[in-house]
Amino acid sequence: MNNWLENNEEQIEYFIKSNDIILVGRKYHIDLLLKLIIFYNKTKNSNFLDLGCGDGSISKIIQSKFPNNTIDLLDGSNMMIQILQNKFKSNNSNIINMNFNEWMNLNVEKKYDLIFSSMAIHHLDYYNKNKLFTKIYTALKYDGLFVNIDVVKPVTKDIEDFHFMMWENSIIEKTNNIDESKKHENLPSNYKNKTENKPSTLKSQLYLLENIGFEDVDCHHKDGIFAMFSGVKK
Ligand SMILES: C[S@@+](CC[C@H](N)C(=O)[O-])C[C@H]1O[C@@H](n2cnc3c(N)ncnc32)[C@H](O)[C@@H]1O
Repeated sequence: MNNWLENNEEQIEYFIKSNDIILVGRKYHIDLLLKLIIFYNKTKNSNFLDLGCGDGSISKIIQSKFPNNTIDLLDGSNMMIQILQNKFKSNNSNIINMNFNEWMNLNVEKKYDLIFSSMAIHHLDYYNKNKLFTKIYTALKYDGLFVNIDVVKPVTKDIEDFHFMMWENSIIEKTNNIDESKKHENLPSNYKNKTENKPSTLKSQLYLLENIGFEDVDCHHKDGIFAMFSGVKK
């Protein structure tokens, strides 16, 4: 079961309030995404798609920096979409209430210059990641860019212990007091125990992208389980 698609209010509120604290490298990844947009020359007259957009906080930043683009925001949670509709007002955007499975099976006519996703694709198993990455490739224009910011699976149990320890330390460093840090206690083990989380290793996902035909496939940043990687359709 994927709690996000079951409108779990507590989970949604917790994520929106705490994402800066609980996600390692959040600000850095958003900044890097803006830099990639500039580097790959997609600053204007471009169509963007945010897959698993949540409350649209990343799209909002992108649109404020590059207002002469359109953004489609897709999410499968009705409750998240309601929050998004209240927060995200723009003439250049389209809100799509649809889960990844539906989008993958849709005949997508529109082609995008950039498709990005943050903290969402790890809810698909490896088979469906491959299916989604393939669909993304089809939905991109030539020279279109795909960027994924996501949690990845540690390669061994020892590495998992180390990366979870780094994650916990990062949360403690970002919280101001013990009460605040207690709110996030046991987050790594809770994340691991939820069946909705199906992370794959970074290497296996880079392999999928290359196998599909993406070029310039690389990881730009990785801190423990938090990674950011991309590929271009040339
Ligand atoms: C952790 S939130 C991240 C939101 C946003 N991308 C961000 O980084 O702020 C994950 C989002 O992915 C969406 N999501 C999860 N699984 C999905 C699926 N199978 N299809 C569509 N959306 C999904 C959830 O509804 C949720 O809004």
